[in-house]
Amino acid sequence: MELSTAMRTTGTCRYFREDPVPDEVLYAAFDAARFGPQGGNRQPVRWAVVRDPARKQALADLYLPLWRPYYAGLNDGSVAANALPKTLLDANHFAENLATVPAILVLCAELAGLHPTDTELGRLSVVGGASIYPTMQNVCLALREQGVASAITTLLCHQEPQVRELLGLPDGFITAAHVVVGYPERGFPTRLTRRPVEDIVSLEHFDTPMFPAGATV
Ligand SMILES: Cc1cc2nc3c(=O)[nH]c(=O)nc-3n(C[C@H](O)[C@H](O)[C@H](O)COP(=O)(O)O)c2cc1C
Repeated sequence: MELSTAMRTTGTCRYFREDPVPDEVLYAAFDAARFGPQGGNRQPVRWAVVRDPARKQALADLYLPLWRPYYAGLNDGSVAANALPKTLLDANHFAENLATVPAILVLCAELAGLHPTDTELGRLSVVGGASIYPTMQNVCLALREQGVASAITTLLCHQEPQVRELLGLPDGFITAAHVVVGYPERGFPTRLTRRPVEDIVSLEHFDTPMFPAGATV
């Protein structure tokens, strides 16, 4: 598969087939993904693969009390439940069926291996994540290449203390995401909704589009 095709079609999967993802498929994905960059090559990323039904249920039980109020808050009651946007209905189906997905990859990271350079700016620090999330996206792409779909989630990071206990996460390690993986029940998306290049790239000055709409490159 072309890399650009994988990048363009690695959407968020909400419906998974029951079949397990074989160890060798996961291995190949982790093996390719570990070449993702991290600051100072400190390699802080660890993965915990959760396939045990009781442990998946425990994660789902932690997720749903976060998801359900969020979902309820998005619908003020004026819209019939089945008339909500499809993306929301799909996300709700995903949440309500989280315990039965094939696997949940818990993305962990060693805090000491992060090197955030934006902690004194008086705003949210995000740089630490730059040593974690390239590897996560690599996993999603490497799985996509092998016909396996994924859904990145972060809602459950709210419950890190409980997840820490459930997985025996040592001190100094944190949870950064929970990536649900499995074979897609409905195939892969062909066209993801994203802003066009014209809207997101500037040249030299933030106000100057590098590729103005209508111009040919
Ligand atoms: C950082 C991040 C956090 C996310 N967290 C959640 C989550 O907690 N629960 C969920 O259902 N989807 C979550 N998503 C999935 C997004 O809702 C999804 O990527 C977005 O709607 C775009 O979907 P698409 O990639 O299929 O176009 C998350 C995605 C990202 C990148």
